[in-house]
Amino acid sequence: MAYSEKVMEHFANPRNVGELEDANGIGEVGNPKCGDIMKMYIKVENGIIEKVSFKTFGCGAAIATSSMATELIKGKSIDDALKLTNKAVMEALDGLPPVKVHCSVLAEQAIKAAVSDYYKRQGIDPEPIVGKIPECDHEDGSCGCSV
Ligand code: FES
Repeated sequence: MAYSEKVMEHFANPRNVGELEDANGIGEVGNPKCGDIMKMYIKVENGIIEKVSFKTFGCGAAIATSSMATELIKGKSIDDALKLTNKAVMEALDGLPPVKVHCSVLAEQAIKAAVSDYYKRQGIDPEPIVGKIPECDHEDGSCGCSV
């Protein structure tokens, strides 16, 4: 399985790693295929994602896609961030091996989950804007993750 240089580079030096202390939106998603987990933190001001960071408990492809996804949405409007697809993240990384495509879905879902959380904190129902996010509920194991 061959990874692109960009994937290897983002895996070795992931951008925007860690928690964001002043985050006003936090999203956590689990990958039902492998049980990996991603947490995304955003700080939104005037509709713009001023800061973003992530923590990924997952494979190298998941770390590289989270890193690239945070770079792609930093400084963008919420609307633009919601339009970011896993396909666009993969393209920015010069592709992923087919068996690793599911890993890139985590990044897209985590961004949506963080934006949903942001809207909820503002007292706005996120579902009409963001759509339904598969919740990672560790207690009932519905996400398939093992933590
Ligand atoms: Fe789980 Fe890649 S194998 S996210």
